[in-house]
Amino acid sequence: MLSKRNLQLDDRGELHHLLAIEGLPKRIIERILDTAESFVGVNEREVKVVPLLRGKSIFNLFFENSTRTRTTFEIAAKRLSADVVSLDVARSSTSKGETILDTVANLTAMHADMFVVRHSESGAPWLIAQHAAPHVHVINAGDGRHEHPTQGLLDVFTIRRHKPDFTRLTVAIVGDILHSRVARSQIHALTTLGVPEIRLVGPRTLVPPELARLGARIYTSLDEALVGVDVITMLRLQNERMNGALIPSASEYFACYGLTPKRLALAKPDAIVLHPGPMNRGVEIDSAVADGRQSVILQQVTYGIAIRMAVMAMLAGAAR
Ligand code: CP
Repeated sequence: MLSKRNLQLDDRGELHHLLAIEGLPKRIIERILDTAESFVGVNEREVKVVPLLRGKSIFNLFFENSTRTRTTFEIAAKRLSADVVSLDVARSSTSKGETILDTVANLTAMHADMFVVRHSESGAPWLIAQHAAPHVHVINAGDGRHEHPTQGLLDVFTIRRHKPDFTRLTVAIVGDILHSRVARSQIHALTTLGVPEIRLVGPRTLVPPELARLGARIYTSLDEALVGVDVITMLRLQNERMNGALIPSASEYFACYGLTPKRLALAKPDAIVLHPGPMNRGVEIDSAVADGRQSVILQQVTYGIAIRMAVMAMLAGAAR
């Protein structure tokens, strides 16, 4: 039985769906991070497979494009020995008018155990979770501008591997925060884990002032915001979600908000740089930073496999 209070947890307080970081208890976030830690070792072995989800069927439903998330979910499921089907949405019967709930009902009739859902509409994974059969688990792989919880988890996992004490960190999140589900999930994760200072940086048109209610400080000057920070997350301009011009031009944006080596020097000398990808080099980030020694961008991708293995194993009750 699921609690009416929180669709994500069952009556025993265990994770049943992963739909958002907002509302997720700290103990669950920490358990996901600790479980992922054990899977990092599995991913470094020659034989990278464990039998935890043998016999389970996992369906990837990506109604929006993806490189990292879709691929790492697929790899993670295979490394847990699950059967994985990545639905080719463009060639599926959704193009004939079948609703998302009918698609899910038909796949459930094929004995689906888990759905990984990416959709341009905020709330689509919640809708599926509300109508899912009791044994079925739903993971949000990014819904509109709402949340991208496994990205938020892999971000804090990457940060923790470099800087284990969240209560001593200052984190800057820079760029198109308005349209960023990654920013929302990361802010909720950082806040829940006790990060005392989160700086949100960007032009006024791209930083919603209401995010200050989460305890974040808003900056319009990147140079001011970077002084003394431990962690910098750079975000892509999400032109596909913008209605009208919210910035003058890509070159002016880079001049004001692009992370260059000179600007990075304003942060602490051991500061790390994250980016969820895909990157637009020369728009939000200089290649010298993206490929530099302080970048952990490709580590985020690698750790994404361990985080997604941990989430799927916990949902299936296999990580206890
Ligand atoms: N970080 C991320 O969601 O990347 P993809 O869109 O490639 O999955």
